[in-house]
Amino acid sequence: AAVGKGNYRHFMEKELHEHPVVLGDTLRQYIDPASRAVALPALPFDPVAVPKISFSACGSAFIATQVARYWFEQVARLPVDTDVASELRYRDPPLPEGGAALLVSQSGETADTLAALRLLKSRGQHVLSVVNVPESTMDRESDGTLLTVAGPEIGVASTKAFTAQLAVLASLALGFGRARGTLTAAEEARLTAALLEVPAHAAELLEQGLGDMMEIAREVAAARDVLFLGRGSLYPIALEGALKLKELSYIHAEGYAAGEMKHGPIALIDASVPVIALCPSGPLFEKTASNLQEAAARGGRIMAFTDAEGAPALRRFAERVVVLPSVDPFVAPILHAIPVQLLAYHVAVLKGTDVDQPRNLAKAVTVE
Ligand code: G6P
Repeated sequence: AAVGKGNYRHFMEKELHEHPVVLGDTLRQYIDPASRAVALPALPFDPVAVPKISFSACGSAFIATQVARYWFEQVARLPVDTDVASELRYRDPPLPEGGAALLVSQSGETADTLAALRLLKSRGQHVLSVVNVPESTMDRESDGTLLTVAGPEIGVASTKAFTAQLAVLASLALGFGRARGTLTAAEEARLTAALLEVPAHAAELLEQGLGDMMEIAREVAAARDVLFLGRGSLYPIALEGALKLKELSYIHAEGYAAGEMKHGPIALIDASVPVIALCPSGPLFEKTASNLQEAAARGGRIMAFTDAEGAPALRRFAERVVVLPSVDPFVAPILHAIPVQLLAYHVAVLKGTDVDQPRNLAKAVTVE
């Protein structure tokens, strides 16, 4: 049956509101809520024996792999390589015989990702895919598939499929950690509990509305350039925020690692460039906050997304502070992905661009 917009103005708005359900449905596939243990299907490689895992994807799915790299390193102590599929396929990287590869795609049909899959297979790699469309080409050609349960995604810019990819990748990292003995049972229970709470936090965030969000959207809509900053696993979310804004509103945006700002983007900073900061509390908070303070000292106007613990320190110099539900730092990138999508959505609506079908973009790019 054809998918409708219901009472929503755009498919994207509808899909943004599906986050809680999609995250819940996806997590229930990979975590047993009763025992709070990760329950993965059989994998095409042994998580204990693999020396390294190669990730590849395109667009937002590639950004999901960049977040996953932090998770796999942290809880599974496993080296991860990730590269966009259009680069990987011509890079000719040295690969261990019988090595492990993981590809991520909403459609399962993206030409470059599919080509990377075939290359990796032809080089003796065991390929696992995370896809949203069962029976898609990537699902069929992979040695194993982990499905995201996001349902059809119509808006060209990925929203719920992206957070569902994060949910699968976080569960997989925890499963690897347990198998490899790098994660204690207590840690596993704590982190799976944090993951299982994400759908409720997503609902809370979507229902409560986000304070200064509309004011920030108005500032961003009036800007020519926007900088997104984050550190650690929030750095890829800064990339995603910039990507979404470019895709939907045609405003130039850059995502940068907060600590790298002083090596370039700081030269751009003045009152006309809003700085969107992703800065939840946690071990990296102080470092990121001090980068933001440097930007503020140079006239930068800081608009920060944080939580109740981080808000007081940021309010000392930030122009606007949006407070998200407090969560374990492990799951913070999943929760922070939602406001950056919402921001891009609101800016696009203010600018009157075609939200669901931005110019020059396609939902699935099936040509090289
Ligand atoms: C296009 C879409 C993006 C998507 C990317 C990868 O560029 O506009 O939203 O992230 O393709 O698509 P895939 O289906 O492989 O996830």
